Amino acid sequence: MGYLVVKLVKGDDIRKYGSGNIGATNVGRVMGKKWAIAVGIFDITKGGLALLIARVLGVSSPQLLSLLGVVAVLGHNFPVWLKFKGGKGVATSFGVIFMFYPLASILGGVVWYCVMKVSRYVSLASMISLASTPIWLKLFGADISYIVASSFLAFLTIVRHHANIRRLLAGTEHKVGERAT
Ligand code: G3P
Repeated sequence: MGYLVVKLVKGDDIRKYGSGNIGATNVGRVMGKKWAIAVGIFDITKGGLALLIARVLGVSSPQLLSLLGVVAVLGHNFPVWLKFKGGKGVATSFGVIFMFYPLASILGGVVWYCVMKVSRYVSLASMISLASTPIWLKLFGADISYIVASSFLAFLTIVRHHANIRRLLAGTEHKVGERAT
């Protein structure tokens, strides 16, 4: 969604700016906070919708829903139409985990907000908050498939943030609110 918004509204390729990512955070750097929120909500909904449709169609197996959730995030991260150069999967993962167990996703969101407010690094907040979701799922007694899937999504998110991790360690990571040049 981030790629499309910047392409349609600005006529430009978001991947040339900021972190080069197509996600909400980078859209915020290029287009401002309102667009970032819109893209974030869209990407969360996209992840949730895939599982909602499956449920409406009668899929109730946690194993199948977990697999579908992982596939939805992989589709966001490696889209064929962008030559497999997609996003980092944070918002989409939260949408998927919301459909696994809403409270686990909401608590992950609270963790995200707290880490982001304290550190002002969205990337750090994204990695820590997604890593917290298997813990919430375990505490709530969710099906093991959901715990395994959310652990994989957290792992995938951390791998996708390798450049952010390097910048965090070097002290050069972008802080929230900074505009892209
Ligand atoms: O959701 C992606 C976020 O965690 C980091 O985005 O643009 O700073 O790499 P960015």
